[in-house]
Amino acid sequence: TQVRLLGLPGSLRQGSYSLAVLRGLQPALSPAVDLQIGDLRLPLYDQDQDGPSTPQTVQAFRQAVAESDGLVIATPEYNHGIPGVLKNALDWASRPLGHSALTGKAVLVISVSPAFTGGVRAQAQANETLLAIQSRPVLGPQVVIGNVTNKIRDGRLTDEPSLRFALSAIDRLIALCPAVRRAEYADQS
Ligand code: FNR
Repeated sequence: TQVRLLGLPGSLRQGSYSLAVLRGLQPALSPAVDLQIGDLRLPLYDQDQDGPSTPQTVQAFRQAVAESDGLVIATPEYNHGIPGVLKNALDWASRPLGHSALTGKAVLVISVSPAFTGGVRAQAQANETLLAIQSRPVLGPQVVIGNVTNKIRDGRLTDEPSLRFALSAIDRLIALCPAVRRAEYADQS
């Protein structure tokens, strides 16, 4: 058994740098960690649709979150905040009230930008929303990847210092994952 992480890029575009960060992490992880990449192409949140008629894509998304041991969100910053796509997905996953798959879930946020500021404001905003949902955001040095265009080759993050920094945060993420998985990770890595 592996630690099962779900990677969520906060951008829908094919050439997304956020997606490239997750794709760069995949081969760099210990074999004891499985990082699947999901996508946030969901309908707009509508409370009238949240109940017996919850869209199938949303149900599948909630299930993927529930089945993961932890999340790795890699997100751009849009206008000094998180993209609507990411907020929308977090809002869907925050329900049903009191039974959210995000409550208690370990979550690492990585912010990504071509600018040297690295999306630090989106990073702060994402963590604030995760606290509202009572997730467990990874504490410690924030993974903020600036000047990202220079750090990607063939659709993957290849910059060694950025990868090392992100991998150390993934260790802290795994420390927040369910104990049984953590023990197996310690055995295998
Ligand atoms: C941006 N971009 C941006 N970058 C940044 O560092 N701070 C910001 O506030 C914004 N604002 C912003 C708004 C909108 C609507 C767009 C489309 C873009 C630039 C952004 O970082 C850049 O387009 C990234 O490449 C987007 O991430 P992905 O799609 O590569 O993952």
